[in-house]
Parts: sequence; structure tokens; C-alpha cells
Amino acid sequence: MAFKVVVLPGDGIGPEVIREGIKVLKAVEESYGFEFDIVPLPCGGKHYLETGEEWPEGAFESCRASDAILLGAIGYPGAHLPNGELAGTGVVFGLRFGLDLYANVRPTKLYANVRHKIHDVTKQVWEPEKVDFVIVRENTEGIYSPIRGSLRRGGVEELAIDNRVITRKGADRVIRFAFELSMKRTGAPADGMRRVTCVDKSNVLQGCRLFRAVYDEVAEGYPGVERDYAYVDAFMQWMMRKPEAYDLVVTSNLFGDIATDLASVLQGGMGLAAGGNIGNRHALFEPIHGSAPKYEGQDVVNPMATVLAIQMMLEWLGERKKERSLLEASHTVESAVEAILKEGKFLTYDLGGKSKSSQVGDALAERVRTLTRPEG
Ligand code: IPM
Ligand code: MG
Repeated sequence: MAFKVVVLPGDGIGPEVIREGIKVLKAVEESYGFEFDIVPLPCGGKHYLETGEEWPEGAFESCRASDAILLGAIGYPGAHLPNGELAGTGVVFGLRFGLDLYANVRPTKLYANVRHKIHDVTKQVWEPEKVDFVIVRENTEGIYSPIRGSLRRGGVEELAIDNRVITRKGADRVIRFAFELSMKRTGAPADGMRRVTCVDKSNVLQGCRLFRAVYDEVAEGYPGVERDYAYVDAFMQWMMRKPEAYDLVVTSNLFGDIATDLASVLQGGMGLAAGGNIGNRHALFEPIHGSAPKYEGQDVVNPMATVLAIQMMLEWLGERKKERSLLEASHTVESAVEAILKEGKFLTYDLGGKSKSSQVGDALAERVRTLTRPEG
């Protein structure tokens, strides 16, 4: 069985973490006998500076024709489009909007032997089993909807407007996605309850009132899942103070963008934070750390976020193609990450280690092989 995976390494540390991720994907291939037809495509800010385009002609169509997409990172210093936007974001938004990837799924899970990133705390505050929730961020509307503009008078920018669009359809499908995901999980760490927390600002914003009303309608269909509501400002502190109370969190685009970076603190930092941009037919998986240009080419950053993105990709593909071995491969990849973290021998600087990215990538690939080697 073969699956076409378009890989967009992109800018900065993107190519390095992708290189390590591919090692793991190769180990999965060898161990499980399916093939990944990997199609690498250049893209990003650096590519824009070199060629005048954010990605080559036909790249979007290749992505649309693939089984899954894997993205490294976008963003290169000094690379801006004539309209001021960061060059490369056309790729991210081209795919999110163009393939209608409406659910941005960001798991926040603290693995054993990983310290969260709250500084000046000499003691581990949360035990790993207390942090295991998923934020589902709406990914195709909200304040990211491209209905925006600015007014120039006499060459001076006088006014700029970003419209925050919330639609019934957009809210309904992402909220439903969160409830469905809760049904596949085992509930919040604190009490084992399935719970979907609706995070909004409905005390002020009209769009949030619609979002919450749609949440209530969708929740009717899931009597086994507890309803929970939080205003986004309060949620930010509760997430830090009581992470174990959360199972699924669903929210609009910008709130989710902000909340997921903060949430990564609970899981040991951006080096371990992965995400999936998921639609009904297509999906893109990525480490969420960005291009981190100052670390480019040094072989020092943590490739685990990319490997966890690959784990999510295998799971999504397995469900979509109804292919058990892909689901097993996804478990194996997560077990490999857990094992390497637990042993603490191959860790990058962000986790207090001294290993190179490539050493961590090798260790993970090797662990996938040993975990799947028949015994005896
Ligand atoms: C993210 C990123 C993107 C976003 C940027 C790179 C456009 O921050 O995926 O969270 O704002 O959505
Ligand atoms: Mg972000």
C-alpha cells in the first residue's frame, strides 16, 4: 500500500526537523510494509526571496492530490510580500482555506520525565498524568478571514480593519469535531469525564454569542459529554492552574492561536508541540514551533514536535483509509517518543540535554524498529 505525502520543509529549522521526521517515517515504512511516496516541495520566505514566489506553480494542486501534507515551518527574516505580509503565509493560508482545513487540532500532553516550562519553579508542579487535553481551534474564519483592508489618504495609512467572521457552518463543524474527538478519548485527567469546554468572549462579542449558541445546539447530541464554558481571559489562567480539568477545548481562530502557544508551556515547550490542520478530505500536519531562524543549520532543535506531527498524520490516515496497521504505526511512534523521553539519554537542549537533532532522530527511528521487531 502506498500513500502520497507532500512534504513542505519551508524555512529556518523546518528542513532539519523534517529530515529527522522522515527518518522515523522510513523506519515505519520498513517495519510495517507500506510505502510513503514522499514528494518534497520548496516553499517559504527564503524561496520567495530566491524565486519571487512563495511556492512553485502547481504545488497547491500536488497538495490537493496527496493523501497527507507535512509542513516544517514558514517565515524568513526580511522576506515580505509587497503588501507587507510575511512571505510564506500564502502557503499556510492557501492550504488552510484552499483545502478547507477547518479544525486546527493541538494536543497538549505532558510525557513522563518532561518538565513543563514555567520558570522559577524548582519543583515540578504538574505530574505528567495531569496534562492531557486537546485544543481544537477554528481554522478558516474568525479574525483570520481575509476580509480586511486599509485606507490610505495622501499616501498615509489612516485606518486598518480586520473583520472577525463567525458563521453558523464554521462554528458547527469545528464544535462537532471537538465533541467527536472527546468521544474517542478517555476524559479529563481530573475526573475521567468527557468534557468539551467552549472558550469564547460571549460577554462582549456578538460572534462569540453565535459560537456559544451553536455549541449548545451541538452539545444536545452528545449527552455523555459534559458541557463547560469559559471566557477566554479566564480560561488562560485556569488552563495554567488546573490543566487536569480539561479534555477538549474548542475556540475560534485567534483565541486558539494564542491559547495553543501558552498551552505548549505545560507540555515542555514548543519542541514537543504538534498540530494537525484537518478538513473532511485533506489534512496538513506540522510542528507548531515555527522557523526559529537563529537556530537554523545548527542541528540542535528538538525534532520531536515533527515526529509527533507524523504520529498524528499516521493516525488520521489510518482512520481515513480504515487501515489498522497505520493506527498501530501511530501508536508505535508515540511509544518511541515516550521511551526516548523517559530514558533521558537523547534529549535536545530545550529538555535539558546535549544531543543533536540528528541523534534524537536516529534514536527515535531506531526505537521504532526495535519496538516493531518480532520477538525471539
Ligand atoms: C500558527 C501560526 C500561524 C497562525 C502563523 C504562522 C500565520 O502562528 O499556526 O499558530 O497564526 O495561525
Ligand atoms: Mg500560532
